[in-house]
Amino acid sequence: MKLSITVIGTGRMGSALAGSLLQSGYPTTVWNRTRQKTDPLARLGAIAASSVEEAVNAGEIIIVNVSDYEATKALLHSDAIASAIRGKLIVELTSGTPSGAREAAEWCTKHGANYLDGAIMATSDYIGTDAGTILLAGPREAFDTNRDVFRALGGNVQHVGEEPGRANALDSALLAIMWGVLFGTLHAIAVSQAEEIELGELARQWSATAPVIDGLVTDLIKRTSAGRFASDNETLSSISAHHGAMQHLLELMQFRGIDRSIVDGYDAIFKRAIAAGHLHDDFAALSHFLATGKQHAFDASH
Ligand SMILES: NC(=O)c1ccc[n+]([C@@H]2O[C@H](COP(=O)([O-])OP(=O)(O)OC[C@H]3O[C@@H](n4cnc5c(N)ncnc54)[C@H](OP(=O)(O)O)[C@@H]3O)[C@@H](O)[C@H]2O)c1
Repeated sequence: MKLSITVIGTGRMGSALAGSLLQSGYPTTVWNRTRQKTDPLARLGAIAASSVEEAVNAGEIIIVNVSDYEATKALLHSDAIASAIRGKLIVELTSGTPSGAREAAEWCTKHGANYLDGAIMATSDYIGTDAGTILLAGPREAFDTNRDVFRALGGNVQHVGEEPGRANALDSALLAIMWGVLFGTLHAIAVSQAEEIELGELARQWSATAPVIDGLVTDLIKRTSAGRFASDNETLSSISAHHGAMQHLLELMQFRGIDRSIVDGYDAIFKRAIAAGHLHDDFAALSHFLATGKQHAFDASH
């Protein structure tokens, strides 16, 4: 007999989560603030609860997927829900901060519920597929016991640690890479359009360049974790080479009237490192120049 699952929040992502559970044969109850959004799921066999309390009472596992933790709090933080969650597993898949996850874990455990906090590293079309990645943090046992349920949500659902903030922290770290690439792409489009390069050509050249950049990202993480900040015979490119090349982009953007606020921010990091004597170090040495407080001096040769 499969566990009964409740999904609270059936927006774009919540609907995909509930749809995958239904497809895998889990008895699924759904609740959404705007009730009509549960209609397609009801047609697939979900029970549409008429209140959050009814929804929580119906499931052994309660998956929450609303816009943010403030919305979750507004829905769950009442005496009625606090007693309804006792003995259940709450899986919060709403995006949030590590401290938001810790606070939610504390509230749930205080009221006798088990708690896993998750970060969905995918768009809704990946949910239920082998490539669907969801990171979950919290008690390992709660994860292991319910692996089958999580498998229904995606083929790559991973436990990333017991500390409840861990999944959200990883989420923010990975999204920092994503936005670096997406905003970089906006700049590339602006430069291409200003220089009358057809965007199809940009797409073709990106395909050829992407593996090089992928290699640089992997190398940067590897070198930073090994503390190899000085240039050596495996250095792919030094601060000096990157900084020099970036001046051409800055000049072109200035000439074409393209907003430079983001790239000027990159340049400020370069300048702090160069002023501190790191012009010829590996690009990884820049990781020491991101702190907004007092800079700590470091010696790249160690
Ligand atoms: N979409 C993605 O690709 C994706 C990927 C990774 C993570 N996520 C995360 O998943 C979460 C949901 O995203 P989504 O794309 O599904 O967004 P969405 O389509 O805009 O859905 C938002 C959901 O939150 C509900 N909601 C918002 N404020 C509420 C409140 N005060 N009280 C009750 N319900 C409230 C909405 O209810 P109504 O229908 O009544 O407005 C709706 O069910 C977000 O935290 C998002 O960051 C999404």
